[in-house]
Amino acid sequence: MSAEAVSKLNTVTVDGKARYHEPVPSNIDIESFRKVVKSRRSVRKFTNKPIPQEVLDDCLDMAMLAPCSSGLQPWEFYIVRSPQKKARLVKACMSQSAAKTASELIVCVARTDRVHEFSRKMLREWPMPDVPEAVKKYYQLIPLGYAPGPLNSFAMIKKVAISAGGFFAPVPRGPFTRSEVQLWASKSTALACENLVLALRAHGFDSCMMEGFDELRVRKLLKLSDNALPIMVIAAGERADDGVFWPQVRFDRELFIHQV
Ligand SMILES: Cc1cc2nc3c(=O)[nH]c(=O)nc-3n(C[C@H](O)[C@H](O)[C@H](O)COP(=O)(O)O)c2cc1C
Repeated sequence: MSAEAVSKLNTVTVDGKARYHEPVPSNIDIESFRKVVKSRRSVRKFTNKPIPQEVLDDCLDMAMLAPCSSGLQPWEFYIVRSPQKKARLVKACMSQSAAKTASELIVCVARTDRVHEFSRKMLREWPMPDVPEAVKKYYQLIPLGYAPGPLNSFAMIKKVAISAGGFFAPVPRGPFTRSEVQLWASKSTALACENLVLALRAHGFDSCMMEGFDELRVRKLLKLSDNALPIMVIAAGERADDGVFWPQVRFDRELFIHQV
């Protein structure tokens, strides 16, 4: 980290020590936020108005500010622009109306193979002058934990060893197997997807998340390796007057909220 960057870090003194300090903004308008959240609907018919590139870029940047497990940013976004590829993607999305009419189609991919690379990158790009020992250890350990090995062999060994320790104290129960690591990457990627659709809404555009697609065809189209899982395709554009097909349905909150 450069000396100039270090000198710009905001600090506060706590218990006699200088600590990093990030002030809370005071002027957030809850009603605007509510309007964005409440007006987001799955839109299945778009006009042909394009999304300006700077708007899309801004939305993608906001997507990538989503929280992510261990800060490891396991997502990728493929904005499919070539007319031939777009036509194949629409077909792969079973020619759904949202896909057919969208001005942009974005394939959101969860990567499971960048844990090692990004752990090292995190240590190289740590945003403070010194990397704390605990942080160093954490990013050295994480890649060992998240490598399932051939046919989940490492995963099974780790599961047995760690479960034994679990008789005595709380232990992390995963992600060890290939499917657990896929789930791990998908959780953070889905959060980025939500940021993306809310950002589009805040810019006056709309979207439809779609998991109704032929994964094999999407993989072939984007030449994705086995370590890249397409989790959803986001159709985006300007909402047509009849773009929302029915009023939003949400069941009674008592079904979902539990006070324990
Ligand atoms: C992970 C996920 C996958 C979805 N897949 C599709 C899809 O393939 N096609 C579609 O028309 N809508 C799809 N939807 C949209 C849902 O049907 C929609 O979110 C739900 O009915 C609630 O409506 P709302 O988004 O307008 O609140 C998907 C939504 C999510 C979150």
